[in-house]
Formats: sequence, C-alpha cells, structure tokens
Amino acid sequence: MYVNGNRVPDDITEKARSNQTLLSFLRDGLNLKGSKLGCAEGGCGACTVMISKYDVESGELKHIAVNACLMPALAADGCHVTTIEGIGSVKDDNLHPIQKAMVEMHGSQCGFCTPGIVVAIYSLYANNCNTKAIEEHMDGNLCRCTGYRPIWDAARSLCDDAEELVRGPCGTSCRECPERDICEQDCNVEDKEKVTADEDEQKVIVTSSKDKMAMKKSLIASSPDWADHPKKLFPSDIIDASSADSLALKKPLMVVDNAEFHGAGTWFKPTTLVGLLKLLKEFGNPVGGGYKIVVGNTEVGIETRFKHSVYPRLIYPGDSVESIFQVSASTNKIVFGGCTPLSFIQHEAERLSKNDPIFTRTLMPIHDMLRWFASTQIRNVACLGGNLVTASPISDMNPMLASMGANLVLSKLGEDDRTIVSRTVLVSDFFLRYRTVDIQTSEFLERIEVPVLAKVFEYVKPFKQARRREDDISIVTSGMRIKLVPKDGKFIIEHAALAFGGMAPKTVMAVKTAKVLIGSEFNRETFAKASECLMEEMKLPEKVPGGQAAFRMTLTNSFLYKFFLSVVVELKDDVEGIEGNHSAFPDISLPLPSIPIVDEAELSGAKTFITPDSVGKPFTHQSGPLHCTGEATYIDDINAPSGTLHASLILARECGVIFDKFETERALKTPGVVGIYGSDTISLLKGENRQGDESVFLPIGETIGHIGQVLGIVVGESLESAEMGARAVAIKYGTSSNEKVPVSIEDAIASKSFYESTRYDLTRGDLSALQSLKELEDTTSDTKVGDLVKISGTFRSGAQEHFYLETMSTLAVPTEGDTNLTIFASTQAASHTQEYIASATGTPMSKVVVRTKRMGGGFGGKETRNCFVSASAAVAAKAISRPVLLTLPRDVDMLTTGHRHCFLSKYHASARMTEDGAKLESMQIDLYANGGWGVDLSGPIVSRACLHVDGVYNFPNIQVEGVACKTAQAPHTAFRGFGGPQGIAACEHVMDHLAVACKIPKESFRRYNMYDESNTTHFGMALSQSNRKWHVPSIWDRMTSELNLSQRRQDIDEFNAKNKWVKRGAALTPTKFGIAFGAHFMNQGGALVHLYTDGTVLVTHGGTEMGQGLHTKVCQVAAQAFGISVEQVYINDTSTDKVANQIATAASMSTDLYGMCTLDACRQILARLKPYREKCGSEASLKDLAHAAFFDRVDLSAHGFYAPDKSMCHFDVNKPKPDNYPDDKPENSWKGQPFNYFTQGVAYSEVEIDVLTGNHRTLRADVVVDVGSSINPAIDIGQIEGAFFQGMGWSTIEEIVYSDDDHTWCGKRSNLFTQGPGTYKIPAFNDQPEIFNVSLLEDAENPIAVHSSKAVGEPPFFLGTTVFYAIKDAVSSFRKKASGRESYFEFRMPGTSERIRMQCNDELGIKVKTAMLGGDEKAAGSYQPSGSY
Ligand SMILES: Cc1cc2nc3c(=O)[nH]c(=O)nc-3n(C[C@H](O)[C@H](O)[C@H](O)COP(=O)(O)OP(=O)(O)OC[C@H]3O[C@@H](n4cnc5c(N)ncnc54)[C@H](O)[C@@H]3O)c2cc1C
Ligand code: FES
Ligand code: FES
Repeated sequence: MYVNGNRVPDDITEKARSNQTLLSFLRDGLNLKGSKLGCAEGGCGACTVMISKYDVESGELKHIAVNACLMPALAADGCHVTTIEGIGSVKDDNLHPIQKAMVEMHGSQCGFCTPGIVVAIYSLYANNCNTKAIEEHMDGNLCRCTGYRPIWDAARSLCDDAEELVRGPCGTSCRECPERDICEQDCNVEDKEKVTADEDEQKVIVTSSKDKMAMKKSLIASSPDWADHPKKLFPSDIIDASSADSLALKKPLMVVDNAEFHGAGTWFKPTTLVGLLKLLKEFGNPVGGGYKIVVGNTEVGIETRFKHSVYPRLIYPGDSVESIFQVSASTNKIVFGGCTPLSFIQHEAERLSKNDPIFTRTLMPIHDMLRWFASTQIRNVACLGGNLVTASPISDMNPMLASMGANLVLSKLGEDDRTIVSRTVLVSDFFLRYRTVDIQTSEFLERIEVPVLAKVFEYVKPFKQARRREDDISIVTSGMRIKLVPKDGKFIIEHAALAFGGMAPKTVMAVKTAKVLIGSEFNRETFAKASECLMEEMKLPEKVPGGQAAFRMTLTNSFLYKFFLSVVVELKDDVEGIEGNHSAFPDISLPLPSIPIVDEAELSGAKTFITPDSVGKPFTHQSGPLHCTGEATYIDDINAPSGTLHASLILARECGVIFDKFETERALKTPGVVGIYGSDTISLLKGENRQGDESVFLPIGETIGHIGQVLGIVVGESLESAEMGARAVAIKYGTSSNEKVPVSIEDAIASKSFYESTRYDLTRGDLSALQSLKELEDTTSDTKVGDLVKISGTFRSGAQEHFYLETMSTLAVPTEGDTNLTIFASTQAASHTQEYIASATGTPMSKVVVRTKRMGGGFGGKETRNCFVSASAAVAAKAISRPVLLTLPRDVDMLTTGHRHCFLSKYHASARMTEDGAKLESMQIDLYANGGWGVDLSGPIVSRACLHVDGVYNFPNIQVEGVACKTAQAPHTAFRGFGGPQGIAACEHVMDHLAVACKIPKESFRRYNMYDESNTTHFGMALSQSNRKWHVPSIWDRMTSELNLSQRRQDIDEFNAKNKWVKRGAALTPTKFGIAFGAHFMNQGGALVHLYTDGTVLVTHGGTEMGQGLHTKVCQVAAQAFGISVEQVYINDTSTDKVANQIATAASMSTDLYGMCTLDACRQILARLKPYREKCGSEASLKDLAHAAFFDRVDLSAHGFYAPDKSMCHFDVNKPKPDNYPDDKPENSWKGQPFNYFTQGVAYSEVEIDVLTGNHRTLRADVVVDVGSSINPAIDIGQIEGAFFQGMGWSTIEEIVYSDDDHTWCGKRSNLFTQGPGTYKIPAFNDQPEIFNVSLLEDAENPIAVHSSKAVGEPPFFLGTTVFYAIKDAVSSFRKKASGRESYFEFRMPGTSERIRMQCNDELGIKVKTAMLGGDEKAAGSYQPSGSY
C-alpha cells in the first residue's frame, strides 16, 4: 500500500487486521491524524481520502473519493491513498490551491469537516471536473458550521467554467447579463472596486465576483502545475509494469489475523473468478466454517461496527476479476457485473446512452436513480450486487431492477472444481423475506442482466422520497414500467410492473395493481382504478415499523400519478418522433394537469453575497490554514502520552427500572481490558458522584432515568478492547415500577412531571383581559371594525441534535503521583469542567487544569453536557494512574448528551379589527419544554423562551408561563438560541393564526403590529435607548421595497394558479435577540495578555474557540490596541491555569466579554509603555518599547477584566413591584433589564414544494442583520450563514424520534431512534438556497460593546425558519385552492416532507388518512403526522 506517494513499510501493513478500517489504519497505524472520524457510518465525509489506481489497459490513473471509516484497510492493498497530509501543508507555506481557496474564502469555521471536504474537492479536480460535476458530487460531506456557501465558492473557484455561475442578487448570471458593465448592484460595484483595490485586505472577502478568473490566477500563482499534483504523487513503482509491486498486485492475497480479541478473521483477495468460487465452495460447505463476501463494505462495515458482527473469513474479490466489475451492452440486454461500483454504472449509463440512443430509456432511469443513491463516496465503492444481496426493504436499486424485469445470474463452482455452474433468477423473485434472498451457500452473484426497453411505447421511471434530497435512505422508493401497444385507436397497456421499497419487509411487486393496468386502455380512468387498488394493496397499519404509515401509503399513489403524467409526456414525444402518418395512433392530447417537477439535480449554492462597508477587516480564521491542511489538532489527534488507555462508557439499555448491579467478570477477561469503574470508584477517590440532580455514574439501587444513562466506564489498552469490554459487562436490572415512564411532553403533563424550579410566569397589561381571553369562544368569521377576533390553539417545535462534527472528547492525564490532573477537553466551559472534575475526583480545583485548544463545533452542546464525559475519563485516569482518552462514538454522543428542547405551546390570543388592519390585544401562552432526565440548563432556557415570546410585536396584554417537563430522555441542554427561537416560533405561529382569523395578509398584519421605537417589551425593556437603536421595522420596509415583494407575491400567485401540484411560497421573517447571559454573575470575562520582548503578543482569555472565530476577533482587538499586525498576536489555547473562573463561551457574548477584557489588559500594558513611547519616539516599534520597558523592570503582562454594568444584564422575574414604583415607568422594568441590547434582522425566502411528494427546495434567501460595526465582517457573515442553515435545518428537515406511544416501533420506551447521520438529517450541500444574499446593516453602531460591534452567533438562527414559513405559505396556497378559502392549520415544526405532503389535504391524502383512521374523514382533515417530539 502507498500513502501520499510513499510505500507503507511492510512491518506496518502486516499489522493491518481484516476488520480494521482504513481510517483506523491511517490514524493509529501511520499517525496521520488529518482524516477525521465524524460518524463511522459513511454519513459525514470527515474521513474522506482519495484512492488512486492505475488502469493498465488505458494507461490512465483512476481516482475516487472514499469513506475511510468504512473501507477496509486491506482493500487498499495495491492502491495509492491520498490523505489531506499529501495535499499540502502549512510548513513552508505549501498550501495546495484548493486549500488556499478554502482559507481565503472563509470555507472553514471549526475545521473538523474541512480535511474531508478538501480531499473530496481534490478528488474531483483529479478527474478534471467542471462546476456541474462539483455540484453533483459534494453530496458525501457535511458541514455543520458554515452553511456551505463559502465552500461552494472555494470548490468552484478553480474550475475553468466558474465564471458562468456568478450571479448577482437579482439571480441573473453575470456573464450572460446584458447590463453587466453598467450594473450598479453592490456585488458588481464591489467587484469593480476590488480590481483597483487588490492590496486592500478589506476587499478580499468578495467571493462571487466577475473576476473569478483573476482569483483563480492568484490561487495557482505559486503552483501552476497544480492540476498534475495527483499524477505526480502517484508512485511510479505501480505504473512500472515490471516492478515488484506491480507484479504483486496480480497475485491473490491472504492475511491471517491472529489477534484473538479482535475477532477479526482471515482476509482473502482472490484474483480469478474460479479462485473466488473455490474459496466460497471450501468455506461454504458444512465444515468450512463460513465466510462473508465484502465488496464496498458499506453494508458489512455497518454490521461490523454497529451490530458487532464477526466474520471468520472475509472474501474480497480483487478487481482483476474483470468480468464482475464491468458494464456491457448489446441490443437486447445490458449486463452489470455483480461487483460493479455504482458510480461506474452511473458513468457508463450516461456514456452508453449518449453513444447510442437505443439504450437511453433503459439506462437513464438507472442513472437518475443513482444520482440520489447515497453519496459519491459510497457509490464509488458500493456495488450493485451488494445492494441486491443485502435485500434492504428500502434499497433503491432493487425495486428499479425488479420493475425492469432484470435477471440475476448466480454462479458456483461445479463438482469438478473447474466448471462454473450458473442459474438465473428474476430480481422480482429474488427477495424471499426480510433481508433474505434466494442465494445458496457458495453461490456468487456474478452479473445482473437488464432487458433493453423497446424503442418506443415502453417506459420506466424511478421514484424516491427521503427526508433529505441528497444522501438519504428512502422512505418509499419505487420503479415502474409500462409497455403500450396502439390498438383500435387506443393505447392498450400490454405490460406493467410496479415495484416498491419501504412498503413491506422486502421489495414488493404491486401485482394486483399491475393486473388492473394490463389489458386496459392507457388513460386517466385506468390509473384512477389502479390507484384504488394500490391503496388496498399497499395498506400499512398505523403503527407500522418505520412509522409514517399514511405518508408512505400516499407516496405510492403519488408516484403512480407522477408515473402516469410522465408517460403521457413521453408518449407524446414518441408519437411525434415517429415519421410518417400518425393517424394509426390514438389521440393522446389528454387534458392534463400541470406536470409536477420531478426531482433533479439542482444547481445550487449561493451566487453572491454583499460585503458591507465596515470598520472591521475580514481577516481569515486564525486557524484556517491548519484546518485546510488537516494540521489543526483536536482532542482525539493529540499525541497522547505513552501508556494512554482508551475508554468506553457502560450505558443503561432499559429505563424506569432499578439498576441492580453490573457483572464484570466476562468483561475483565476481554484481552486488553484493564479496569471497570462505577459510582463506588468515586467514593474510593473521595469524590462527589452527585452533581446537581445528576450523577457521574448512576449509583447501584437507583432508578434508571433514561436509556443511555451512564452507569460506568471500561478502560483498555486499545479502543477495540474497551468497547468489547463495555459490551461484555452484564447489567442487571431490578424490578420496574408499573408506572409508564413519561417520554413526551404530553406524558409529562398527564403525570405532572415538571421541574418546578424552571417555572416562569411573566405578565403585563390588563389581567382581566387575559383572564377573559381564556374564557371567550374563538371568533374568526365575518369580522368588522371594532370586533375582537379571538383564537386559541397549540403549536409545537421539535428538538434538534447539535451534530457538532467532533463528538465529545477528553484526554485525562494524571500527574504528580495522581494528585494533579491535566484535562484536554472539547468543551465550551473549561472552568465548569474543571469544577465538575475536581468535585468528582476529590481533587482541589487548583490541581486540575482544563485546556481547550479548539472544538470541532459546539453550538451549546458542549456548555455543560461534556462534563460527565470529561469526569468519567478523569475518574478512570485517577483510579488507574494512567492517562485515559474517551471520545464518544457518534451514536453514544447523540444518545447521551441531549438536544435542543422541543416545545409545546398552548395559547389564546386576540386582535381588534381597525380601519386599516387589526391591532394585537392580548396573548396568553403556556410554554412546555421537554427537559429530559436532568434539569441542566432548562431553567434559563425556559426563561429565555418566555422573554422572546413577543417576537418583534407589541402585545399590550400578555401573560406567558413556561416550565420544563421531566421525561425519560437524556437531559436536554443549550443549543444556539437557548430557548429564544422556540419562544419566537410560538409567537410567529400565533401571528399567522391571527392574521388568517382576521383575514389580513400575514406580512401586513405583522408590520402593523411591530414594535416601534417608543415601545417597551413585555419585560419592560425599551426597544430604543439613547445608544441602542430599533432597526427591525426599517430593515423590514427596506427589504419589502428593495426586493419588490408585492411583485414577487404576484409572481408567486401567478405561478401557483398555473401549477396544480407544484406550489411556491414566500415569507418575510423578523427577529430580535437579546444579548446577555440570563444569570447575572455570568456576565464577566477575564484575559491575560503578555507582551514579549520581540514585540509579539500572547493573549489567553476565558473564551473557547469552536469555529466562531472568537480568537481571530480577539487577536484583531489586541492588534489594533498595540498598533501591530494581527500576525503578531497569538492565542494558544484556553486554560484554567491562565485565566481562572471562566464563564462558558455561550449566549453570543464572547466577543463582547473577551474583546473588552483583552482591551482592558492591553490598555494596562500600553499605559506602562507610555513613558517609553515618549522617550523612544513615535517611530519606535512595539519591540523597541517592550525591550526598553523590560530592561527598566516594567511588567509586560496584564490581566484584564470586564463585566457589563448591572443595569444591562439583570432581571428578576419574581421581584415584587416596589410600592413607590413610578407610574410613568414601563411595566415590569422594576424587575431589571435582562439584555444589554438586541441583535436584529430580517430574512426573506421563497420555496417551491412538490405537493405530491412533500419535497421542497429553497429558491432564494435574503438576509439582513444588524451586527453593529462588525469587527470582522467575513466572520460575521459566516456566522449568519451558518446560523441561518441551522435554523433552516431545525425547522424543516431535522427530526428527532424517541420510542414513545406514537413511535412504538423504535425499540424500548425512551430509546432514541435517531442516533446517527443515517437517520438524522442535517442540511447538506444541495440544501443551499439557489440564491443566497447575506448583508450586514450599514451605519449600525453599538457603542456599548467592544468596537461598537454586536453579538452574532445565535441571533440569526431564527432567520433560517423563514424557509419553514415560506413552505407553510406554499402549503397554505394549495389548501386555499383546494377548499376555496384560506383557513388556519397547525403546521408543526419541523416542516418535513411528511408534514408538507400530509398537510396539503388533497383528495388522495384525505382518502389515505381516512382509510388509515378507520373511515373517520373529520379526523383525517386535522390529522397530524406523529413526527418527532
Ligand atoms: C451512508 C450510506 C448511505 C447509503 N445510502 C443508500 C441509498 O441511498 N440507497 C440504498 O439502496 N442503499 C444505500 N446504502 C446501502 C449500501 O450502500 C448499498 O446496499 C450498497 O449497494 C452495498 O454494496 P457494497 O458493495 O458496499 O456491499 P457490501 O457491504 O460489501 O456487501 C453487502 C452484502 O452483499 C453481499 N455481496 C456483495 N456482492 C456480492 C456478490 N457479487 N455476490 C454475492 N454476495 C454479494 C455481501 O456478502 C454482503 O452480505 C447506504 C449505505 C451507507 C453506508
Ligand atoms: S466518519 Fe466516515 S463518513 Fe463520517
Ligand atoms: S467548519 Fe464544517 S463542521 Fe465546522
């Protein structure tokens, strides 16, 4: 094996085991830590490496990107592996142009995803890609921070055709625009300026400019031969046919694993078909001991990792068995080798179709289905045979092939051990039961034969609906084929085959429905009959495994309808394409409804963004180059001290039962396991196990609160041994109480399971009006001026997983005879972690140092929930006197560390009709949050929700009560916005509901009721104060006019009138977000600044870097203070021994706090330097001054501190009104002012939904945010885009599912179903709005924060929900058309494809819902999919 141009020494390769992944081999065997482990299931792309092979026949190099976390290390035998380390390095400034582009265009934030993304882009360029290829093939990488726009820009920047894609905010391609030279759009103006202002760093952030080519030139200036890089790196030994290595490649390989505890087994790589079949025969016979064929390992790898399957022999067919890796075509059939990778099939399908149109209608549907099959990295290795033999009920290719009448050729070795015996099976007969196929032991799926479709009148179509468009397993998938014959002036259906996945435990054919079709005339009536039949044939019980019964049933019929429509179109083309007299053909000019847009690859990615005219400079992220070269170190990458042990947690697998004990005997016998610790260990250490209402390890005898609760920890010499040990621990459960454990909010309300300490109640205005609000009947009809319109209802917003790319990780190192601990932790709260560990291990805080260099994302998830992880590792380390590394696997992280709280809101609200609108009167709202099993931060989260429930609207009378529910879920915690978005979402729902009830357009109702400058919020804070401005109304008005929203609305209405099954919607969504920690004491920060005698500065402050660019901004502040360049200022890490008693990096407050305290420290040093400045003169450098002062014995270090004034960050909800409280003061203001100021913004979006499937795409998004005077506009824009994306994900596709009454199919009650990227979908590259403009409000100063800036991390999160409201608008438009009037409906968040489809309430949807609900049509009308919660 070769890695980065070098042959891996034999003594290292020999250590590779058959079940070892390439990623583990690279990281642990070769110490190449650039490739990251994000999920271990092929779902995030953080582990992407490039595999290159030499094709002897063509003499060409083949390069593919793969997931190293799934690829077996031994499968890379004979290949060249390029990892991020091989592409470029910060050493000697040797960055590859792709890495430079990523740095300069701000493509990395936390940087954890970045190496994988750079390698993915590098692999595309290795194959001479253009922008279209890039847009199709970035589907295998996820980024949780950036929102992808800058990565798109960087990825495209080196393409020759990049310039074609540059568009202005108008959406027009700049290259094609006739007004290109006179256009005054900001982007264009900026562009012009850039040409003349290249030296000025302020302009460097222009990423989508006309002079893309100039940018390309500058990126490749120092490496003009960059395109040849992969070729040059490729080892010549392999190309040299006579070299020993090249010859060795042709030989079979056998690797025997003798390490007993791995349970690995022997790896075989046969190089001939007979050799392969011989192995199957030998090990397949009853005494042979068994085998497993492995090709792409994308299924087997998952089984090995998550089901812990152990195979004694793995047989990997080498690609020198050419026939099984080929695609060939003849006039009547197309043959795919059983091991042909899917990407090669896709490639060949396109090539053959182009070469000969006869293949087009057979091959292009296969090609199109593969576009949405998994990701590029998976398709590059996964084979068709693997998809078939795995027989997943939701496999995509199986229904496709079954409907096409494909055959499988299964081969084995004959009795004589030489001849190959084959049999043929129809794909439709191949699937016997759940994951069971008609293949005998020792048989091999040699090839798949697909009949070529007739030249005309035969059609096949693929359908797939998933939670996310890209890289997602289907909810329902289907292949449909139909053959027509013209007869007696009609088209008769001669043959029909409909196959479905996702509707049964195996791929099924809708045989009865096909019978309805066959022999009938091809027309709408026939399909209507077929639809009736299909509904019966594909009926699912409500509680079917996998859930979504009604949606799945509806999808089968929607697909059938789409199939009918598409055949009509193609049939017309066929008829028109036939030369000569058409009179023999029936008339097919059927009256057709509009054709729904069938999903296709959308060109996406932002085209532009507008740079502000700002005081700050857009410096790139301080760690950008390190991120892009994989040299940035995260906890798991640290070169751990020798003797470091690995750890794995012991987790409860039941809940509501007593934890009796665990038996460790078997686990301790696992080779490599050295210790198992639980709550008694903490007692022995004289530590405190109890931490608040939780414990580090649940004590024996206590009731288990939720599945996943931590019971103990196992440490071993290797990760495998620790994990095997943890699995071998037998947990004994005691009796359970008969009470049902509350999982959902409804359960908690029913059993009154609340955290009373989190209850908040805030009232303003007329109490009697609020009381009567509850008692009044809802009034919504025939309103006139003066009437009070009253509504009531409920609204839900879902939970959200942080999905930081780097999971929780800690390295705990005991020192000084175990009296001290040094902890390297991925945490947002170093001091809190220090305190927790000190308490749990019985160590004084002064002897525990917690250090955090950087995190691979945090988003609030690492504010408190990392503590039990760090403490577990620290307890084990102290107990065994050795360093312990604990990195949570993705599934454990998702199961144990909590999410954003889901909310249920119950409300009553009213508005009074006026001459020109309707004025808000009152709102009474109860907010219930699901807090999980531990109060954690639920109190302040609920209070922030209560403080944001007014949105941006003036409710004269308001009463809000919030409380967190105690449930059997992991304790839920902080997540960007911290309850604020949940409060605002509830408010926006009420606003929508009232607008509908008052029959007023939603935008005008909102604008009419918006706070103005003279108002105060419901908690008594003035919107506009002397040095704080209220901007929301003006931004709203500006966007309304600049985007010409009335014209846009008209266009949307016109589009919707013309299209029945595709609807567009739009929304303008405002936000204000209060800045300050809710807890008064947390509003403080410290910094330590050292000026060295060479004039460089080292800053350490209490904040942590998680990608948000805090360190970069603080460096800018210090650089400006000292008058030096940013490069002269450095921040090493965050450490509790340098700055003590730090506050968590949260609440978007960090720049405000740490910028200020750093400034304070700098000013102290500057004051001491003042005499030297006077003495040495204005020309003297900082180095000169530092020297002079040092020799004068002046202290060049200073500790800075900052705490905002109490008046700006203190609110006591329970404080009684003082007797002498002046009447003219705003209500509630005696309670204090909770926030320093508000960060504000407005977003507009337009979407398009496919009514039949529930798919949506975002056509455009425009965002304007007031971030004051930005310190670093590039970082701020990055924060806005990232937050927008997270908000969009939360409100549209991200759905958490627990096992509860509504989801009985996902394991034991309280089990979390969504434990990885396979089931939980965050937005991917192609979820980018097609046009995405982000701008910062100009001339917006904020004199009360550092350099007049504003906090930016959390506030724009809510703006992403504009996409949800636009979707709701589109659904509303369909419902309005269907029912003839606009009526209220509860559209729950997230607006998933299921909710979109099921809320559209078309005839089909209602029919399915009614059938499922036992004929209750009324219930069907208000049916809500179970979704999450
Ligand atoms: C992140 C991710 C996303 C995915 N997305 C999708 C998706 O969108 N749609 C979808 O349908 N699937 C998806 N899958 C599933 C998987 O990728 C496919 O099933 C794939 O085709 C399996 O091929 P493989 O070569 O990796 O199989 P392997 O894991 O190597 O083998 C799978 C099984 O097939 C057997 N096998 C393989 N080839 C042969 C042969 N020629 N003869 C006999 N037995 C054979 C093996 O013994 C094994 O039992 C996804 C998987 C992952 C990890
Ligand atoms: S770690 Fe390999 S894809 Fe996530
Ligand atoms: S920068 Fe992509 S996940 Fe953080």
